[in-house]
Amino acid sequence: MSHQNSLIQTLQDLETEALSAIRAAADGEMLEALRVSFLGRKEGRISGILRGLGELSVDERPPVGAEANRVKEVLQEALRAREAEVISSGGQADEAVAGAEDLTLPARHSWKGGVHPVNRVIDDIWSIFRSMGFVRARGPEADTEWYNFLALNTPLDHPAADEQDTLYLKDSLLLRSHTSPVQVRTMEKHEPPIRILAPGMVYRRDSYDATHTPAFAQIEGLVVDEGITFIDFKATLAEFARRFWGSGTRVRFRPSFFPFTEPSAEVDVKRMITMKDGTRVESDWIEIMGAGMVDPNVLDNVGYDSERYTGFAFGMGPARIAMLKYGVPDLRIFFQNDVRFLSQFTAGSAQ
Ligand code: DAH
Repeated sequence: MSHQNSLIQTLQDLETEALSAIRAAADGEMLEALRVSFLGRKEGRISGILRGLGELSVDERPPVGAEANRVKEVLQEALRAREAEVISSGGQADEAVAGAEDLTLPARHSWKGGVHPVNRVIDDIWSIFRSMGFVRARGPEADTEWYNFLALNTPLDHPAADEQDTLYLKDSLLLRSHTSPVQVRTMEKHEPPIRILAPGMVYRRDSYDATHTPAFAQIEGLVVDEGITFIDFKATLAEFARRFWGSGTRVRFRPSFFPFTEPSAEVDVKRMITMKDGTRVESDWIEIMGAGMVDPNVLDNVGYDSERYTGFAFGMGPARIAMLKYGVPDLRIFFQNDVRFLSQFTAGSAQ
């Protein structure tokens, strides 16, 4: 073997030896020692070989020099790569010992949080009303008979006020059975014009089944000003329904009764379904809220001049709306917090 070829062979043997040492290095210190011993300018073994170049003829030198440079680059790259590995595993070279990897360990998961479907519906509803100039209002969950019933023109012998339906606390406090008391509290504190939306939890002595829960969210709305008419009432709620359910949606106001509104209505929307070929067809009517023109007695109860001011109010159940919107057949699914269900509502997948 020529001197030239034997130097190239030595370089390649050195490369093999260095690469396996680098792969086995467990931390940065060991890697630095390897770098000095192979690539160091003075003591490094590659430099040592290059020192022998002088013994070669002028045209034998370039191929050896080129091979030495290639090996240097390979080793520098290998050192960099291994360094990154030992840093990311906290200095522990977990692959250092052959066969030590535990292939049965589960892969790392990162969980993404998501907005609960009921809260997502509340947020969507809120953003529509906010764009129409409503502000957010809130009230206490433990309230009095006055705010929950009497001020709302509901006598205590009304079935809703019965102990069968309402959860009473001591000292004539109760857990509010609807968000309507927030209407009264807001009007007591503020003069018209009023335009509020009040989402919150309400409580009833109900069974826990597919369509009832003893605690659930409601969203209350109230508008009071001079000159508010039935036209404002219908137009505002129809506009809301079309923004929420889609622009072509048909809306229906059915006569109803609530003690705090006169006249009262239940608002229905005609659901649309998309067929396989993409065409949209009308399905059933679904009820989305109770509503009405504020009863003058309620305005009188908060000290408003009911000759001067008029208004409308509405109340809806976001969980019911979420059931209809997302096709959820049983209300209890919203309370079970099963990640397989909830992860359908996250922004990304739960990977
Ligand atoms: N408070 C009613 C309930 O819980 C819902 C409701 C109906 C609220 C009509 C209103 C309204 O503000 O005008 O069933």
